[in-house]
Amino acid sequence: GITRHYKFNIVSINVTRLCRTKSMVTVNGQFPGPPVVAREGDHLLVKVVNHVSSNITIHWHGIRQLRNGWADGPSYITQCPIQTNDTYVYNFTITGQRGTLLWHAHFRELRATVHGALVILPPHNSSYPFPKPYKEVTILLGEWYNTDPEAIINQALQTGAAPNVSDAYTINGLPGPLYNCSAKDTYRLKVKPGKTYLLRVINAAVDDDLFFTIANHSVIVVEADATYVKPFETELLLISPGQTTNVLLKTKPIAPNAKFFILARPYSTSLGAIDNTTVAGILEYKTSSNSSKSKRLPVVRPPLPPINATSVAANYSSRFRRLVNAHFPANVPQKVDKNFYFTVGLGTSPCPKNQTCQGPNGTKFAASINNNSLVLPSTAILQSYYFKKSNGVYTSNFPRFPPKPFNYTGTPPNITFVAKGTKVAVLPFNASVEVVLQDTSILGIERHPLHLHGYNFYVVGQGFGNFDSKNDPKNYNLVDPVELNTVGVPSGGWVAIRFFADNPGVWFMHCHFDVHLNWGLAMAWIVLDGKHPNEKVLPPPSDLPKC
Ligand code: C2O
Repeated sequence: GITRHYKFNIVSINVTRLCRTKSMVTVNGQFPGPPVVAREGDHLLVKVVNHVSSNITIHWHGIRQLRNGWADGPSYITQCPIQTNDTYVYNFTITGQRGTLLWHAHFRELRATVHGALVILPPHNSSYPFPKPYKEVTILLGEWYNTDPEAIINQALQTGAAPNVSDAYTINGLPGPLYNCSAKDTYRLKVKPGKTYLLRVINAAVDDDLFFTIANHSVIVVEADATYVKPFETELLLISPGQTTNVLLKTKPIAPNAKFFILARPYSTSLGAIDNTTVAGILEYKTSSNSSKSKRLPVVRPPLPPINATSVAANYSSRFRRLVNAHFPANVPQKVDKNFYFTVGLGTSPCPKNQTCQGPNGTKFAASINNNSLVLPSTAILQSYYFKKSNGVYTSNFPRFPPKPFNYTGTPPNITFVAKGTKVAVLPFNASVEVVLQDTSILGIERHPLHLHGYNFYVVGQGFGNFDSKNDPKNYNLVDPVELNTVGVPSGGWVAIRFFADNPGVWFMHCHFDVHLNWGLAMAWIVLDGKHPNEKVLPPPSDLPKC
């Protein structure tokens, strides 16, 4: 591979959408941020210079960062944030990975505006496991807030209320014509008839799973989270925040002289406030003649499932199988050395004295894994671990099981308070790990997109209700389960994931809804070094930021 240099200047600029202008933190003054494009095997040097008053870090979502957590980016987990006027170079090699991913800020709520596509092309002399597309297009789904997202997360943390929702969803930063004052900000995908386009669809939204569809066109799904899947045809995608889906769009053989809406809107089972509005882009056939006439044609609008269509979501998720062949072998753990059972969900924390809180019954919203709500330390866990200074930073007793078994998807317990702490779970090098992620009904069942840093994992099983440790494993797929870095834990259900702990370091795992992450639905793993020199965490770079 070659070395590619990028420079990310973190600057505030004014951006106008929906006739509202606001100042936002961006990379290089772009919203969404610039795409990062590389080939498998390349070495990336991304120099981040922070010119804004907020701290920041950048995370390369889905990049494995083998032995090199120093370049992973989650603030206070693998690094201290880059402070105002400081610089940090993310220095990493893309090993054994290709496909569509994303990069985003990993400090507070900054990823609402600081994010972009991360496209890894196959190495030279190597091709896709499907016919070469005529063109490749990135479709980055996001959100637009009329107000400052930072103020929104402060509201969620300080008053304990559910945060305000965004004011629009966006395609490549544009809300489209279904919002007021937004028709001119519409994403247009201009296509030729009879061609195959590869669409790289990324969900960079802050707090929403999104359905995605194109009127009168079906697509072939070929990749999820930068791993190839067995191709299947669908009219509808469902993508969680942090997930990516590559699809082939075959345009109609003859220009139908029409326009077709590209739509996205949430799938949500949350009880809180949700925005059920729809972002629209337009798929436009290029016709050589008469473009003025075709402008007046109506745009065809596709149907979308209801916002809480949980059975649609489950059917869609069940269609994914990893592509497994001699070129792309799978390595699914057949036996488990370490198993974990994690409840994920919302809860509450008491209202501090002399404060009014706006969460349930005057409490604050909180969120947890196994009832432990993560408190970020004031220094980075990876640094403390590497330099053996964990005292007062974290403890290594993250619970393997929830403190109290109850009917997780039925009647909730009457105590909703979470415990708080900075706890990590320790894994021996190369252990074969299973984690069952169980949604809970403590404040109502809800789907949670769980993301693991530093790894891909296999989704070996999923279902509704409480996980049954006797019978459910009998139905696991240990042959071609889909390989992801972010999985939607079904609303009122569970998923089982497996992976080999072959990447030493400290790795974050959390709900990829930003509000749940900030409420503490997160934990960290420490994967110990192996015996051989090439099984150990690399030394930190000299410019690693200090807290
Ligand atoms: Cu894309 Cu820790 O996140």
